Amino acid sequence: MEKNLKILTYGCQMNVAESERMAGQLKKIGYTLTENFSDADLILINTCCVRETAEEKIYGKIGELKKYKFSNPNLILGIVGCMAQKNGENLLKNYPHVDFVLGTGQRGELLNVVKNFESARKKFVDVSNVSGIIDDENIFPIRGGKISAFVPIMYGCNNFCTYCIVPYVRGRERSRQPEEIFSEIHDAIQNNFKEITLLGQNVNSYGKDLKTKNFAELLSEIDKFPKLERLRFMTSHPKDLSDDLISVMANGKKICEHIHLPVQYGSNKILQKMNRVYTVEKYLELVKKIREKIPEISLTTDLIVGFPGETDDDFKKTLEFLEKVQFDMAFTFIYSERSGTPAINFDGKVDDETKHKRLDELMKLQNKISLEKNLKLQGKIVEVLVEGESKTDKNIFTGRTRTNKLVLFPHKSEKIGDLVNVKINQVQTWILKGEII
Ligand code: SAH
Ligand code: SF4
Ligand code: F3S
Repeated sequence: MEKNLKILTYGCQMNVAESERMAGQLKKIGYTLTENFSDADLILINTCCVRETAEEKIYGKIGELKKYKFSNPNLILGIVGCMAQKNGENLLKNYPHVDFVLGTGQRGELLNVVKNFESARKKFVDVSNVSGIIDDENIFPIRGGKISAFVPIMYGCNNFCTYCIVPYVRGRERSRQPEEIFSEIHDAIQNNFKEITLLGQNVNSYGKDLKTKNFAELLSEIDKFPKLERLRFMTSHPKDLSDDLISVMANGKKICEHIHLPVQYGSNKILQKMNRVYTVEKYLELVKKIREKIPEISLTTDLIVGFPGETDDDFKKTLEFLEKVQFDMAFTFIYSERSGTPAINFDGKVDDETKHKRLDELMKLQNKISLEKNLKLQGKIVEVLVEGESKTDKNIFTGRTRTNKLVLFPHKSEKIGDLVNVKINQVQTWILKGEII
């Protein structure tokens, strides 16, 4: 029987990738993706809990979905992903219209869980094995894009930054076998995907548990895949971005000139309290080394303001640090207390007003830097991979540069997936505008 599946995804690219995999799994028992909640037989919410705001949004959504249970009594509602892992049983208690809760380490069980629920209609929770082995073999993800594919290379995180809940809801680092990764990429290329983004909480740790290939070796092999146009990866932890990786990037053909390298903060005192295990000086050294070997590199980062113990002096150091590094872009967050993490017990909580003031100041400075960086591209010709129509105007197409900057240009005869040369004639903080030449 044909059944409809609606998946709602929150959180990071890893969650997007895992939703695509769950859609692939569920296809085997007759579920096809639908856009709407109203005609769904199964709704999955793939959740995030990295900040309180993410959780609040999801709680609201779970509540809202109750109405579809009234209009379709057979509807199955499942909560999966990081917040499911974190809250487990409580989700069923607080939201009686939820049917099952499945943790991150047990994605492999999803088919059985859904089949069992279809026949027995018995509520179910399993969050018991956060570090469970995720068997991705014989899963053919149903990808959201047509050109660019996410491929997880490892799951979990061992770093335990003191603010972060991810290690608790994603379990220990587990790398996929290289052969499995290669075969998934071959499949994607066969299906006309041009760009691969390798995913992991900390890709630089890839392979440490397997003791076969390390990340630099893996990347270098994928770079040689025929017909692949672009190769990206995220996220890198600065503590173990190796010289080997830098030279593989410098020598690679497909590997794009972009590193997302979250620094989190710009003062040593706070970095230490965050357990980031590098110093500002080390980070700057690393950036210098990367730019020497790969001059065109674009660097982006994540920053957290309002961490416990942050003083005006720490914050000033962070602003100076941003001036020094000159990131192409930064994602900026207000520190959010996560239960179970060490930082929740740290002294020196920063009040909300100060947090917001600092966030504003940080964003203002980074926006200025991002714009200055983009202004250097004015009049230049960049290679763009055509991704599709802009959401607001059918005649405008969008794509990205190798350095991961978004480019808008009037549509000519190019097709989605083409590589085109675009001359940039107008720049903004987050986008470049130009025309195909
Ligand atoms: N594994 C990635 C990041 C995963 S979470 C890495 O280490 O780079 C994405 C970003 O969310 C982090 O880089 C951090 O900046 C932010 N973040 C994580 N926990 C947070 C918290 N408790 N409050 C605010 N921001 C947080
Ligand atoms: Fe969280 Fe740190 Fe792991 Fe990133 S490296 S997921 S910030 S604990
Ligand atoms: Fe959120 Fe989980 Fe990703 S907590 S950021 S969805 S790893």
